[in-house]
Amino acid sequence: MIVKFIEHCTPKEIATAAISLKNGQLVVFPTETVYGLGADANNEEAIRRIYEVKGRPKNHPLIVHISSINQLAKWTISIPAYAMKLAEKFWPGPMTLILNRSKLAVNFVTGDQETVGLRIPSHPIALELLKQFESIGGNGVAAPSANKFGYVSPTSAQDVVKEIGSKLDRFDLVLEGGKSLIGIESTIIDCTGLRPRILRSGSTTKKMIELVCGTGLSKNTGRSKIRASGLLKSHYAPKAKVILDSIAKNGDGLIALAHIPTPNGAIRLSTPNTITDFARNFYSALREGDEKKLSRIVICLPEGDGLAEAIRERAMKAAAK
Ligand code: TXA
Ligand code: MG
Repeated sequence: MIVKFIEHCTPKEIATAAISLKNGQLVVFPTETVYGLGADANNEEAIRRIYEVKGRPKNHPLIVHISSINQLAKWTISIPAYAMKLAEKFWPGPMTLILNRSKLAVNFVTGDQETVGLRIPSHPIALELLKQFESIGGNGVAAPSANKFGYVSPTSAQDVVKEIGSKLDRFDLVLEGGKSLIGIESTIIDCTGLRPRILRSGSTTKKMIELVCGTGLSKNTGRSKIRASGLLKSHYAPKAKVILDSIAKNGDGLIALAHIPTPNGAIRLSTPNTITDFARNFYSALREGDEKKLSRIVICLPEGDGLAEAIRERAMKAAAK
């Protein structure tokens, strides 16, 4: 591995990482959802490298990460009242808002769309990095999940290094920040219409959004021109074939709530007691199945709404490959 791995992120080290970003390097950083592969959102060459490292299609937009609501006005030309309520209630946190872009949000970040995705993450290392970056003149850090396009998102720095470490150079950095608390990506909400519309579900749930906005949500008709991987049929998929709600056979991996027993010969990859734990361990369990070179992974889908729904959304995309 040639990329530099920072195990204990002190403010001094985070300041160095912010300078690296400003110099056009890539910095992998922890967030409460999953690890991000960050670059200066205004540096075209750095953003080009993100696409190259991920093998991601060029027209696929990136989320811009900022440190506070005060930065919103830079990136957008209009913010509906309901979006402001969401921002005030759920940021910093696992939510991304899609808003009408300002000139600062250029085509190489938005994938030629007239909108920009913005998020304030709550992980202390991410927040400190963003603050330091802004204090030296940066506007925002564009960061997709730090995995290859289509594969599952990484929830630890070690998973990032294993997967894309060889594609990073010796001036890039990986900031270690422990296992991601939530484990699945942020909820993406399109805020360009009269009502909010969920493009990708997550731990900021439909009910929470409705309660704060005081309105119902706009339905996802699938007719929108918006490109979000949340809307792709297959995504977040391991190499193993994913099978939903079936009995695991000899040699199959199994991801299921703790009360579901492991059939003889099946390999238990995750035994969560709660939906929260299910989400937190979900991607690392899928990765473990691939590391064990399993050909099939059975997922017993959790029931219920909210986070359970977000897990089912990911599982179904993983199975659609
Ligand atoms: O939790 C997360 O959101 C993580 C962490 C690192 O913040 N990031 C993440 O980024 O999941 P990524 O690039 O893997 O997924 C972001 C999704 C993509 O599907 C992208 O298409 C969508 O957000 N997106 C970004 N900007 C958009 C825009 N302007 N309009 C519609 N979708 C957008
Ligand atoms: Mg992703």
